Amino acid sequence: MNRAISNWVICGKRSSRQACAENHSGQEIPCQIMRLGNIAGQTIPRVQYAESETKAWTHIYERLKTLMPKYACQEYLAAFQLLEKEGLYTAHNIPQLEDVSNFLKRRTGFQLRPVSGLLSARDFLASLAFRTFQCTLFVRHPSKPDHLPEPDCIHELLGHVPMLADPMVAQFSQNLGLASLGASDADIGKLATLYWFTVEFGICKQKGKLKAYGAGILSSYGELAHALSDKPEKRPFDPDKTAVQAYTDEDLQPLYFGIRVSDPAPVRGEIRPVYQLRVVLDDKLAMKKLTENITLDVEQLKRAMAAIET
Ligand SMILES: [Fe+2]
Repeated sequence: MNRAISNWVICGKRSSRQACAENHSGQEIPCQIMRLGNIAGQTIPRVQYAESETKAWTHIYERLKTLMPKYACQEYLAAFQLLEKEGLYTAHNIPQLEDVSNFLKRRTGFQLRPVSGLLSARDFLASLAFRTFQCTLFVRHPSKPDHLPEPDCIHELLGHVPMLADPMVAQFSQNLGLASLGASDADIGKLATLYWFTVEFGICKQKGKLKAYGAGILSSYGELAHALSDKPEKRPFDPDKTAVQAYTDEDLQPLYFGIRVSDPAPVRGEIRPVYQLRVVLDDKLAMKKLTENITLDVEQLKRAMAAIET
């Protein structure tokens, strides 16, 4: 497996211990490996972030917010606004994964799962089939907040989470995961590449303007300004061609694939995550959640119908 897949497509699912050793260079920075706790449990341990890490978050958060209105897609902006409205996202605190995971469960059924070791592309994609997003707790070196040698939890929180709160993106992510189950190694490679050019570095056109929906763009000030400028090459998204396109994770992307937001929605063959197959309606909260899920489904169908009719 090459570096790109193991480090970026699989979203920094390297050993946190290795990441800490390399990025903190022996300095006395709290190591995320100590924060994972019992990752097999139902509750994600709450993390007490160091002041320097919170400062890095604040720096990135405030810088990105200046670019978001111009460059982020409407789905990202809507989810980000909701995260702020619910008090989960502020410039002054790194959100707790448990709180964010609960938010996603309510919105789209996705959940975050902290991971401490190396994941293969196959394992990472398989988790998407069950609407589970493997998420690192590693934080980049606070002295270099704009330098990201590999994905960290700030990338996950500012890039992936808002998009996973969108029903269409959640469904697309799950569909990639479902397609990976039992797939050949060659097809896993193609699916990982598709993931790269969509979920990580996808761009789209909304109301005649290019916008970003990829987490790798949305979580990076430099990539955000670069991706939607005239510098990089842009091609229409074509699954067959995009799936075999070579890419690099060493620098700003030289090539992006764009979609139209009116492209037909991938709604066929939806399979609910296992934990949603049986719903016990024994209290008001359970009924409320089911109502929300149905509402999301109807919203998704309406968008798909609108796309077909245009
Ligand atoms: Fe990522």
